[in-house]
Amino acid sequence: MSATAALGIAPAPAPISDAFRSTMRRFPATVTVISACRNGADHGMTATAVTSLSMDPPSLLICLNNRTYLHDMLLEVPEFAVSILTDRQAAVSEGFSGKIAPERRFDAADWVRHERGMMVLGSAHASVVCRRMGVVPYGTHTIFIGQVVDTRLSQDTVALMYENSKYCAPLHALPASQN
Ligand SMILES: Cc1cc2nc3c(=O)[nH]c(=O)nc-3n(C[C@H](O)[C@H](O)[C@H](O)COP(=O)(O)O)c2cc1C
Repeated sequence: MSATAALGIAPAPAPISDAFRSTMRRFPATVTVISACRNGADHGMTATAVTSLSMDPPSLLICLNNRTYLHDMLLEVPEFAVSILTDRQAAVSEGFSGKIAPERRFDAADWVRHERGMMVLGSAHASVVCRRMGVVPYGTHTIFIGQVVDTRLSQDTVALMYENSKYCAPLHALPASQN
């Protein structure tokens, strides 16, 4: 037992940012790879901060840390792709979040070049190609708003998710009575 606990003194409250980090760790998120191409050079990175924004116009948003390479790239190129990974593609997520050097990230898995120029994962759970329509800087991150120009959806795959610093997948549907 610590000295403060022995004296009945409550530990100092953690800063709100620590509490928020712990909370978000338990917030399950779908794992994607964002990709773009600038002057013939491809780049991609793993991201979970991806959200549907509106249907009219069909749009989504992604949030990128200002220090990432892709952040600077997306300020320059007009379009980007979001490949939603399947539960068999955790290694792709690891590769695109730093385990593989940027210039070798597209060597593994079945990346194909989309007609709009960027790489898209052929065996992804789904993919969405977007035209950049808005850029909103906020703190350490920037929100990029993309209007959807193309989508592809696989019928027989399960999305890869990330929760509590672990990869996981939705294992079962709830009974119809709870749906
Ligand atoms: C599961 C997972 C989700 C991530 N989500 C994001 C995200 O939404 N936004 C972000 O900026 N970085 C995110 N990252 C971190 C980037 O993938 C990581 O910093 C990557 O190395 C950046 O690419 P770069 O090395 O080419 O700059 C995530 C990493 C992992 C493993």
